[in-house]
Amino acid sequence: MDRGEAGSILYQTTLDVGLQPGCDPCGVEQAVRIARRFPRLRYMGSKYKLIPHLAEVFGSLQFKTVLDAFSGSGVVAYLLKAMGKTVHANDFLRFSAEVARATVENPGRTLTEADVRALLEPNPARSHFIEDTFDGLYFSRQDNQFLDNVWSNLGRLDDPYKRSLAIASLVLAAAKKQPRGVFTVVGRRYDDGRLDLRLSMQEQFLRAVKMYNRTVMPGAPGNRVTCSDVFDLPDDRYDLVYLDPPYVPPRDDNCYIKRYHFLEGLACYWKDVKILYNTRTKKIEKKWTLFSYKHTIVDALDRLFAKFSRSIIVLSYSSNSIPPREVIMDLLRRYKKTVHVVAVPHRYSFGTHQHVGVGRNEVSEYIFVGM
Ligand SMILES: C[S@@+](CC[C@H](N)C(=O)[O-])C[C@H]1O[C@@H](n2cnc3c(N)ncnc32)[C@H](O)[C@@H]1O
Repeated sequence: MDRGEAGSILYQTTLDVGLQPGCDPCGVEQAVRIARRFPRLRYMGSKYKLIPHLAEVFGSLQFKTVLDAFSGSGVVAYLLKAMGKTVHANDFLRFSAEVARATVENPGRTLTEADVRALLEPNPARSHFIEDTFDGLYFSRQDNQFLDNVWSNLGRLDDPYKRSLAIASLVLAAAKKQPRGVFTVVGRRYDDGRLDLRLSMQEQFLRAVKMYNRTVMPGAPGNRVTCSDVFDLPDDRYDLVYLDPPYVPPRDDNCYIKRYHFLEGLACYWKDVKILYNTRTKKIEKKWTLFSYKHTIVDALDRLFAKFSRSIIVLSYSSNSIPPREVIMDLLRRYKKTVHVVAVPHRYSFGTHQHVGVGRNEVSEYIFVGM
């Protein structure tokens, strides 16, 4: 137990903060096991490692409908699906939305062997966009041709969920073949020869299809996905809203497009996005968000809490970020009578903000609960 500067007390478990244990702890454990199937995309701020803690918190609260407003890699929305909740997953990035459509909204479609054969078949009329635009940047010519070919064959799939499964698999394959999973660097400088980099794009794709097929399960009726700025979502009523916005670090930026522009482009074949051709990485124009700046983050959190004030709010935030815990508590108390904080020690494995040194990466991950 640690006594915070503002006098608030931080606890390590939900029981300590007075939340009741889940009425069905076995169900929670099983949901955690199911969530472990979720393919691991190296994604900045992913809650993959925190899933047991989040499951414990969710398991202690009474709710049926839930919005995951910043779904990112999709792992939390998938956990909530596994817990039997009616889930709305949202993120303003298209590749996040495709992954969530394949895994959270998808009520049971998988890619069959025939589907995969149709996707892999050489297509003489295939587009050459990736081969031409990204030649010599990230992948071999053959790997680029493979991506173009599968995209050109996507129309052969007869179902939108199968299409999302195929796009999610392309995204995972491309992420695995890029050192550190981020597209801020070009060339093979960080190629340490590990298996993920030695496998061809086709081999990675086939592995990814298997992994995503394994995630497919029916869920509660009404699971759905949107791709929208959080403030443009209609003011629907949810029993609980999970908020995991980007954290504003003291230094560096938290831009997702800068790191994942290739995956974002791949999810829509660069349709309706602006490529900045003068950049070395051929990145796309970044998406502006209130959650990226020190001078807008407090207002952004305040607006977020106001928007979802009728729901139980569960918020993830990091101790290493701006604003500090006490400010978030005060903001939440404007809208919620009771606010609890669970602090989970967490070491970020993600290679961002490396320049600040190892010690700075050992932070607490806060889970605020406002009721
Ligand atoms: C910390 S990540 C979420 C991680 C996710 N919970 C997971 O476990 O993978 C933050 C997400 O917020 C999204 N985002 C940023 N600003 C947004 C906005 N204004 N509206 C919707 N999504 C936004 C980013 O695309 C990113 O996926």
